[in-house]
Amino acid sequence: MEADSRTEDTEGRDTAAEAAVAADEGTVVEFDAVTKAFGADAPALDEVSLTARAGEVVVLLGLSGSGKSTLLRHVDGLQAPTSGRVRVLGTDVGAASSRELRRLRRRVGFVFQQFHLVGPLTVLENVCHGALGGLRAPRLGLPLYPRTVRRAALEQLGRVGLADRAFQRADTLSGGQQQRVAVARALLQRPEILLADEPVASLDPESAHQVMELIRAVAAEERLTVLCSLHQVDLALSWGDRVVGLRSGRVVMDAPTAGLGRDEAMAVYSRVGAPAPAPVA
Ligand SMILES: Nc1ncnc2c1ncn2[C@@H]1O[C@H](COP(=O)(O)OP(=O)(O)O)[C@@H](O)[C@H]1O
Ligand SMILES: [Mg+2]
Repeated sequence: MEADSRTEDTEGRDTAAEAAVAADEGTVVEFDAVTKAFGADAPALDEVSLTARAGEVVVLLGLSGSGKSTLLRHVDGLQAPTSGRVRVLGTDVGAASSRELRRLRRRVGFVFQQFHLVGPLTVLENVCHGALGGLRAPRLGLPLYPRTVRRAALEQLGRVGLADRAFQRADTLSGGQQQRVAVARALLQRPEILLADEPVASLDPESAHQVMELIRAVAAEERLTVLCSLHQVDLALSWGDRVVGLRSGRVVMDAPTAGLGRDEAMAVYSRVGAPAPAPVA
């Protein structure tokens, strides 16, 4: 019986753990009592447990330093837990080989607060760069990308409403446009999970609205699981299916946004945010 319960795939890997994850229907990301310590400081993540299901938009809400970026970096294996377990798309991130992590990262897109575009390159070249898995430096010059990649990149640019900007230098676009290019770049690798680390923190409210609307639309179209950190409760309520509140590395709230009133959320947010941060000198 014991032997029967374990199967092997063609690469000879043990798939029992992956089958167990698949059985837990729709769970794409699972943190189980994850603690991350950097040296002797208070841990950046403290016994964090959460799950994200396929197609769900989960907003991480918390003050600066509460552990949002650290949490996101565990999802694509840029960091490994000190203790506890992180499972993403069937991969145990803490135990995965570098080859398994590379494979995982191709299935996870990342969007950053500062866009991380290469300013002097064209918009289209920046999007094409997404085809390289985000790990290597961009190739210099569009002809170095296969025609199929260029065509797919143009398609993604159309999707974010910027096809007409394809041959413009990336650094001549507005912040909101640059972030939409970064979303197109992340989408080029056809990710199953999109991580967005404060994607609208540098944008004006109208651009922030456009970028969040875009992320939501894409998530719905592709059943993409999104983990997005924000620090404004209004945005979290407008754009998340679920809000996970972090404070000093601990989960202090995990609630669906549906039915969550603003007052209630603000009360919750004061739990996330209190005490108010000291003004920056
Ligand atoms: N690479 C690192 N080395 C040491 N400390 C870190 C590192 N990354 C994050 N931290 C610490 O972990 C805590 C959480 O940081 P972070 O995840 O960046 O929070 P947030 O994204 O919510 O602002 C902070 O105290 C930060 O200083
Ligand atoms: Mg951060």
